[in-house]
Amino acid sequence: MIAEIRGRGVGLVTWARPQAHASERADGAEGAEVRAVAVAESARGRGVGRALLAAAEAELHGAGVRRAWLVTTNDNLTALALYQKAGWRITTLRAGAIDEARQALKPSLPESGQHGIPLRDELELTKDL
Ligand SMILES: CC(C)(COP(=O)(O)OP(=O)(O)OC[C@H]1O[C@@H](n2cnc3c(N)ncnc32)[C@H](O)[C@@H]1OP(=O)(O)O)[C@@H](O)C(=O)NCCC(=O)NCCS
Repeated sequence: MIAEIRGRGVGLVTWARPQAHASERADGAEGAEVRAVAVAESARGRGVGRALLAAAEAELHGAGVRRAWLVTTNDNLTALALYQKAGWRITTLRAGAIDEARQALKPSLPESGQHGIPLRDELELTKDL
C-alpha cells in the first residue's frame, strides 16, 4: 500500500500472509507479517507512518487476519516509538541476532545503527487486530 501527498508517493507499507497450509498458528489464529514501513525523509513526522500502519491493520483485519507481527532492530528508536504508540507489543527479543547474521551471513551489516547505537538485536512486535 502506498501513501500519496498531492499525487506523489511518499511512503509504503508491505505485508506477507503465509500460504494457507502454513498459516495456522499453534493457537489456530491466522497471522500476517508486516514487512516494511517506510516514509520519504521529506514527509516524516507528519503522521504518514502511523496512517500506513493503521491502513495495513485495517486491510488485514478485513481479510480475516487476527494477529500481526513485525521485526525491527534495537537501534530503530523511531520505529519502536511508532509501533508501541500504535498498540504493538514487544513480544520477543532475539539478543545478538544481527551480530550472528553479520558473522555468518552478511558481513556488510553495519556495526553502528541509527543514532550511533550498536546494531545487535532483533525485536519482534505483535498486535491483535
Ligand atoms: C519509522 C518511520 C516509518 C516513521 O514514519 P513517520 O511518517 O515519520 O511517522 P509518524 O509521523 O506517523 O509518527 C508516528 C509516531 O512515530 C514516532 N516518531 C516519528 N518520528 C519520530 C522521531 N524522529 N523521533 C521519535 N519518535 C518519532 C512518534 O512516536 C510519532 O508519534 P507522535 O506524533 O504521537 O509523537 C520513518 O521514520 C521511516 O521511514 N524510517 C526509515 C524506515 C524504517 O526504519 N522503517 C521501520 C522498519 S522496522
